[in-house]
Amino acid sequence: MLNDTIQMIKERSTTHFYQPDKELSVSKINELVDAATSAPTAFNLQNWKFIAVQSSHAKMKLRKFAWNQDKVTDASVIFIVCGVLPDYQAVDERLTPSVKAGILPDDIISSWTDAAKNLYFDFPQRSRDEAVRSATFGASTLILAATSMGLGSTPMIGFDADKIKTELELAEDDIPVMLLAVGYAKAENWSQKIRRPLNDILEII
Ligand SMILES: Cc1cc2nc3c(=O)[nH]c(=O)nc-3n(C[C@H](O)[C@H](O)[C@H](O)COP(=O)(O)O)c2cc1C
Repeated sequence: MLNDTIQMIKERSTTHFYQPDKELSVSKINELVDAATSAPTAFNLQNWKFIAVQSSHAKMKLRKFAWNQDKVTDASVIFIVCGVLPDYQAVDERLTPSVKAGILPDDIISSWTDAAKNLYFDFPQRSRDEAVRSATFGASTLILAATSMGLGSTPMIGFDADKIKTELELAEDDIPVMLLAVGYAKAENWSQKIRRPLNDILEII
């Protein structure tokens, strides 16, 4: 007997067909992104950005840079989920609220700042990997939040990241990692596709 959360995870499927002209309120968008930010990030850096593309005009424009996919204009909102290159100097600001709340001891800030500096400073590939990891965790958590609210979702790599970066005048450190469509699925969508057997992908050592 699966618990409700695992049942929901196993029933989620990627939405291909959205009911067009269905809006998602700003409070629902806030709720989704707020839930997404509960995902973990290294050193709690929260090195991500979520740009919610909601207006028809902005969605039409985005569609041009997203392989002309119907779902970009049909879904209620398209999140451009960005990872941000990790900045060790931000550890202080990101951890101070947890220190003040008594969740973390105060000496953690300097030790995690040093660790983050050693890990990322002068390591561009590792920094980029971390940005992609954080954005992916955020997107994945947002997908589950959307599913729990009865909404469909579609992660998308079919887009031109450089064009989006230029068009939206994103900062140099912002990496558009994924487009994530969220909206109301039509009834005739595919179910979750069949996964590889555990034997092929799980090794217990
Ligand atoms: C990183 C990533 C990129 C994807 N890009 C696209 C895309 O550009 N367009 C699209 O229609 N689906 C896209 N998909 C959806 C996949 O095709 C879908 O998740 C996969 O077939 C499994 O579907 P299921 O989860 O419903 O079983 C993408 C999924 C992921 C995880």
